[in-house]
Amino acid sequence: MDYKTRTKIARILLDDAVPVDSDVTILGWTRTVRVSKSVAFIEINDGSCMGNLQAVISDPGKFPVLEQILTGAAVRVKGRLVASQGKGQKYEVAATAVDLVGVADATYPLQKKRHTFEYLREVAHLRVRTNTFGAVSRIRSKISYAIHKFYQERGFYYVHTPIISTSDCEGAGEMFRVSTLDLKNLPMVNGEIDWNEDFFAAEAYLTVSGQLEAELAALALGDVYNFGPTFRAENSNTSRHASEFWMIEPEMAWAELDDDMDLAEDFLKYLFKYALEECADEMAFFNNWIDKGVCNTLENIVKSEFERISYTEAIDILLKSGHDFEFPVAWGHDLQSEHERYLTEQTFKKPVIVYDYPEQIKAFYMRVNDDGKTVRGMDVLVPKVGEIIGGSQREERLDVLMERMKKMGQTDFETYQWYLDIRKWGSVPHAGFGLGFDRAIMYITGMANIRDVQTFPRVPRWAKF
Ligand code: 4AD
Ligand code: MG
Repeated sequence: MDYKTRTKIARILLDDAVPVDSDVTILGWTRTVRVSKSVAFIEINDGSCMGNLQAVISDPGKFPVLEQILTGAAVRVKGRLVASQGKGQKYEVAATAVDLVGVADATYPLQKKRHTFEYLREVAHLRVRTNTFGAVSRIRSKISYAIHKFYQERGFYYVHTPIISTSDCEGAGEMFRVSTLDLKNLPMVNGEIDWNEDFFAAEAYLTVSGQLEAELAALALGDVYNFGPTFRAENSNTSRHASEFWMIEPEMAWAELDDDMDLAEDFLKYLFKYALEECADEMAFFNNWIDKGVCNTLENIVKSEFERISYTEAIDILLKSGHDFEFPVAWGHDLQSEHERYLTEQTFKKPVIVYDYPEQIKAFYMRVNDDGKTVRGMDVLVPKVGEIIGGSQREERLDVLMERMKKMGQTDFETYQWYLDIRKWGSVPHAGFGLGFDRAIMYITGMANIRDVQTFPRVPRWAKF
């Protein structure tokens, strides 16, 4: 069978690049099939865009194959592109040939009706064929491209930091071990596991962040960014935590916290604008079916300034709010999701950047302020999703960094020797952040659960597909 002469539906519906009366060959999956004595309609989606193309068969009696074409089948339809008689669509195909390429029987799990997202997670191998997950997948792809475009246009170099790591960037110990040792027969020395016998002759893990290596690259290349998978073995069963997710981590030499916040704000606005302009069909879908008003929200954010407040000011606002929080508000405690949401949804009704956090609740690498109590960290919080970006100005002073590491009990200086080394030779102020890609996609689409914006989510007790 000839698959080479196909016309993608996006060329017809999105690009408007195929003139009426052209001969077209459509390859796709049937969404609905309606057959009567006098006419048959097959609605086809080929994944290239939101829209389906309808094939019209005016003498169905001559197409016995129609009886075997059910929802979900793969078909090839040849015919002439014509202006549609029906409403809601500009074009349709007057079919002259219909071939069944791949059958789908009545057990196909995605029959034409609304399915719950919970059900669709169980059939994640098929759900990308639904409108919602097709749209999410295309947005993920387009936003990935926009991310590269944003940084490349600004002279940042894309670096590839390792996935397998022997350090713990966030110091939280939430790492997946990488080992080839036989769990049933562990090599022991002095009553302890002999990691020297393991593949890397050291304890190794999947990375929780590429930041430490990105810092090294920034101190050579100036401005860099990393965009890759990260892994967290935190046992949080929430709608915003995944065990595997993608992160974008820019890192700038010669930069301080203000530059970092400026970059974060510009970056997010760029992505939101890009989604509105370059994914208009998908965004219209999310706006109608998933989160009414999401387009308007993004448009307003692009036009306005993010709020910037210090952690101390944030605590003040929360204390004065009189709101009854589940977790108590007190200076020195980490902000909980409910606190973050209060600030973005109730107080400011827009994205908020909180900066200068107490040192005891932030990672070892953040630059210590002159007050000795706070560090130059910043989080970008957005309504509904909460924290979407975490970043900081890094501690570039070797002595202060080592002091802080000691204080935090992170005294394994040998493991971090390379990270410390860079502070010995040619250290400069530098700053960066990490944007959770999947959380950004949640915010852009209005999808409420991270399990429904990742193609094959990995969460505690779930790594199927
Ligand atoms: O705040 P985090 O832990 O910061 C870092 O990892 C820094 N080393 C980044 C840097 O400065 N280069 O994570 C950054 C972002 C969070 O704001 C959140 O959006 C996302 O990563 N994130 C998660 N997304 C999904 N599931 C999880 N379990 C996540 N943990 C963090
Ligand atoms: Mg964080």
